[in-house]
This record gives sequence, structure tokens and C-alpha cells, in this order.
Amino acid sequence: MANLLYFHLCRFVVYTFLCQTTIRAYNTGLSVELIHKNSPKSPFYKSNNKLYMHNRRDSFYRVPNKSYPLNGPFTRVTSNNGDYLMKLSLGTPPVDVYGLVDTGSDLVWAQCIPCQGCYKQKNPMFDPKRSKTYTPSPCDSKECNSLIEHSCSPQKMCTYTYPYGDNSVTEGLLSRETVTFSSTNGKPVVVEGIIFGCGHNNTGSFNENDMGIIGLGGGPLSLVSQIGKLYGSKSFSQCLVPFRTDPHTSGTISFGDASDVSGEGVATTPLLSKAGLPYYLVTLEGISVGDKFVPLNFSNKGNIMIDSGTPATYLPPEFYDRLVQELKKQISLPPIRDDPSLGTQLCYKSETNLEGPILTAHFEGADVKLMPIQTFIPPKDGVFCFAMAGTTDGLYIFGNFAQSNILIGFDLDRRTVSFKPTDCTKQ
Ligand SMILES: *[C@@H]1O[C@H](CO)[C@@H](O)[C@H](O)[C@H]1NC(C)=O
Ligand SMILES: *[C@@H]1O[C@H](CO)[C@@H](O)[C@H](O)[C@H]1NC(C)=O
Ligand SMILES: *[C@@H]1O[C@H](CO)[C@@H](O)[C@H](O)[C@H]1NC(C)=O
Repeated sequence: MANLLYFHLCRFVVYTFLCQTTIRAYNTGLSVELIHKNSPKSPFYKSNNKLYMHNRRDSFYRVPNKSYPLNGPFTRVTSNNGDYLMKLSLGTPPVDVYGLVDTGSDLVWAQCIPCQGCYKQKNPMFDPKRSKTYTPSPCDSKECNSLIEHSCSPQKMCTYTYPYGDNSVTEGLLSRETVTFSSTNGKPVVVEGIIFGCGHNNTGSFNENDMGIIGLGGGPLSLVSQIGKLYGSKSFSQCLVPFRTDPHTSGTISFGDASDVSGEGVATTPLLSKAGLPYYLVTLEGISVGDKFVPLNFSNKGNIMIDSGTPATYLPPEFYDRLVQELKKQISLPPIRDDPSLGTQLCYKSETNLEGPILTAHFEGADVKLMPIQTFIPPKDGVFCFAMAGTTDGLYIFGNFAQSNILIGFDLDRRTVSFKPTDCTKQ
């Protein structure tokens, strides 16, 4: 029955290539760990704890200016301390790849040898020549044609260019490869024929810990679209650990039926999309600071995207200013004014976690409480800064700081996003 249905889907769905994906180990869902970049489970963890602490203290997070083009089809992560990495293994024999999880884009890609232009990467790069299962996609394939910017190599293979909103670009060969996931139930899951970009020329704001990006957006090439169907439903959920957290903990991401978000405390809002864009859009009506409701005065549907690849939350400047005014009223400490390295952010000195008001994000039909740990981030010792910013580019983002410690389910069949307050370090 399921197979038949699948067959029909395969005949009528536009993105027929997805149906060529085969899976060896099937179960009703897949959960994998989401590793914070500084976790001991990450290859980038500095095992010398002092060094790690040092690194963490000195590492300076400042809400960066972002520059997404208004109509750009893709956004990209702002690489900094707020990255979340997911491990998957590429090829046969498998090679571990730690990719940045990004609900704001689609393509799954990794840096590949030979490098025409790659950024420095700590771990060895994927070498397609050493994999028995690596297969470049032909230019006349469906997957190739689903990419906006693609062309044909002299060997008639699909070369792609995938630009991000911050002017980063990956270029390479669109390919298929066997991917192995280490799932949280201990059994590795092997999926054949996953479409990914073998990135031979990657430039922009990447850092040496990123081996690529795992696009989880709504478009056909994203990992979610490729494997979700194999697991019962095209849905996924994520639970991100907070920014400042015990490095031995990790969050999770789940696909298919394992991604169900239900039970007490769940708030659900409609998921919207715009034609041709892979973004997950929801409607934000305002944010309360404590009991004070600050309305967003243009609450058109789908006005904000949920992006796990962007750390800070970006809001209309005028709305952001009103939020800051209200925060200043309710926080009895004096804001820091004499530290140019902090820019114009609202920051406070505090030896322990900042005692700020609880914020409530009012999505359509869903109120989501945000604790100070989700809204004030320590860029350096004893300093906490409001992790939101105003932007004039019209693309508003609910970033990953604010998403932490919330189990967020993206139900792509029912078109909803569900939020459940959760201690993601205990997931
Ligand atoms: C970031 O934005 C601020 C305020 O708009 C501006 O003064 C600053 O020059 C910008 N920085 C960069 C690197 O664009
Ligand atoms: C690599 O990509 C950059 C940016 O897109 C481009 O300027 C450069 O020409 C490319 N290099 C090669 C060798 O293709
Ligand atoms: C939102 O409110 C501000 C300040 O009250 C006003 O200047 C702006 O025009 C309003 N925007 C919309 C779309 O109503």
C-alpha cells in the first residue's frame, strides 16, 4: 500500500528524482544528535578544558549586520559561535562530515577534493575518487534542473552555483552519494542516492569547522525533502541546546514520524511558504516584554522565517527599537555605553545569568515564551547582550538563539510549526 502510494507520488510529483532514492535500513523515524560546535563529540572540541574555556570566553559574539538580498532565493548562516553541526557520513567507505544545519536553505553540500578554491578546513576533505558509490548527476537530470543556477560540464555533468544571502557561494558538481547517519538509537542508517553538492569552489563567511551545509529548507533538494518521505511523513523536528551550555550535551534533529511534537505545552502556528522559496515562514503578531505587549504593526502572513542557520533574530527596525525601549524600562541595570566593541547593541554587565524579563513571541495562534537565556547572549565574560537586531532588508528571521530549548516540529504535511518548551540538553 505504502509502496503503491509512493509509486503514484513518484509518477505525479514534479520532483520525480526524489523517488530514485533507496533506503536500506527502514524504520518509522530517524533521530540524530545535533552537536554544538564546542561539544566533545565535535571534532573541533578542544579537549584541554582550560583552552576551551579560554576560547569560549574570548570568543566574541556580536550580532552581525546581515545583507540578504530582498528577493534572493537563498539565505545563509552567519558563521560564528551560534552554529549547530550535524554529523553524517558520505560515501563508501564513509567519511565523516560535520555540516551546519540550516533551515534557511536547501542544498546539502560538502567541500570536495580537488579544490579549485576552498576555505581552510580542519578535518580531511571528502575525496569523491576514493568513494565507490559517488555518482555525478548528468545535466539533463531532474535534480540538476531544479537548481536555479546550473550548467553543463564538458563531460555533460551538472555543475552548480549556489549563492547565499551574505554573498557566500559554493560551486561544484551536483552528485549522488550514499549517506550514513548515526542515529540516536545506536543503529547507523544508510540511505543511497542522496543528492548533494560536491563543492570544489567555496567562498565566503565559512570557518574551518564547517565542512559544508546541510540544507533543511522546504525545497526539493533539502535533506528533509529527500529523506522525510522515507520515514512516514515529510516532517522533522529540532531541539537546539542553548548557546551557553555544558559542552558535553547535544541537541537532536528527528525526521519522519519520530519528529512528532505533542503533549502538554505545545503551541502550534500555521506554516506558510512563498512560491519558489525554500523558507519556513510563520506569522509574528508581536512580542511581549514581561506583561507589556509590543505589537508588530505590519502583521502580514508569513512575515518571519524560522532559520536554524542564523544565530540572531532580525526584526523591523522600528519594532526592534520599541522592544529595546521596553527592555530598558524593565531591566533595572544601566546599559553598557562605554564599550565600542559592543556596537549599538543593548548590553548589560552581570556576573551571573542576566535577570531579565521573559519575552513572549506571539505567533498566530501560538505564544512562545523566551527566557533570558534565549534572548541575552554573553559575548564575553560578565556581559550579556540582547540577541536581536533591526534590519531594513525586509527579510525577518527568528534565529537559533531564540529557538534553543524549544522542541520545534515542522509538519510539512499539515503545514504547521509546533513549539514545546523543552530542556534540549536532556533530549
Ligand atoms: C553595520 O551597521 C551599522 C549601523 O547601521 C553601520 O554603522 C556599520 O558600518 C555596519 N557595518 C558593516 C560592516 O557593514
Ligand atoms: C571560485 O568562485 C569565486 C566566487 O564565485 C569566483 O570568483 C572564482 O572565479 C571561482 N574560481 C574558480 C577557479 O572557478
Ligand atoms: C508602524 O509604526 C511606525 C511608528 O508608529 C510608523 O512610522 C510606521 O509607518 C508603521 N508601519 C506600518 C506599516 O504601519
